[in-house]
Amino acid sequence: MKQLRKPEVVVITGASAGLGRAVARAFAREGAYIGLLARGRDGLEGARREVEELGGRALVLPADVADADGVEQAAETVEREFGSIDIWINNAMVSVFSPVRGMKPEEYKRVTEVTYLGYVYGTLAALKRMLPRGESPAARCTSATRRSRRLSATRSRPASPTGT
Ligand SMILES: NC(=O)c1ccc[n+]([C@@H]2O[C@H](COP(=O)([O-])OP(=O)(O)OC[C@H]3O[C@@H](n4cnc5c(N)ncnc54)[C@H](OP(=O)(O)O)[C@@H]3O)[C@@H](O)[C@H]2O)c1
Repeated sequence: MKQLRKPEVVVITGASAGLGRAVARAFAREGAYIGLLARGRDGLEGARREVEELGGRALVLPADVADADGVEQAAETVEREFGSIDIWINNAMVSVFSPVRGMKPEEYKRVTEVTYLGYVYGTLAALKRMLPRGESPAARCTSATRRSRRLSATRSRPASPTGT
């Protein structure tokens, strides 16, 4: 008899493209319920279709990770629709490829808001929900040069499906 277990509830920022979308597919193969967060609705809808074709469920969460309120609302929506968040993956980022002297102050500001504060806001939204449940999440960052089972993940139980 097939064992019944609660599907993992996962939130992935930057889930509409690239690595985030690939991670969403990996979790979908495990039947996860996934909150897909990014700004562009078209990419998010494409990711949602892929997740559902692979056996997962998905919520499209259009938001900018640099907007703390938007991230908090997204977390709220996920818990209302799917239940407690088990795993939060901070993946959204923005970079500027330029010599340092060629970069403008507003470009540094935007990179900091998205790639640093976006991680902070995501982690805070996850901790707010996980800590009262007595869970002991861990935050991790890895780069593409190091093979890891987790990329910048905040989670409450040992990792499962992502071998990215
Ligand atoms: N690609 C590499 O070679 C490489 C190497 C090392 C590490 N990484 C890490 O992997 C992660 C993803 O990289 P990638 O190459 O997959 O990036 P990507 O293809 O450019 O995708 C970026 C994703 O983030 C979303 N995003 C960007 N700005 C956002 C914002 N303000 N709010 C919400 N979502 C936002 C984008 O969707 P929208 O534009 O629709 O919002 C998209 O879904 C990053 O953390 C990066 O540091 C990548």
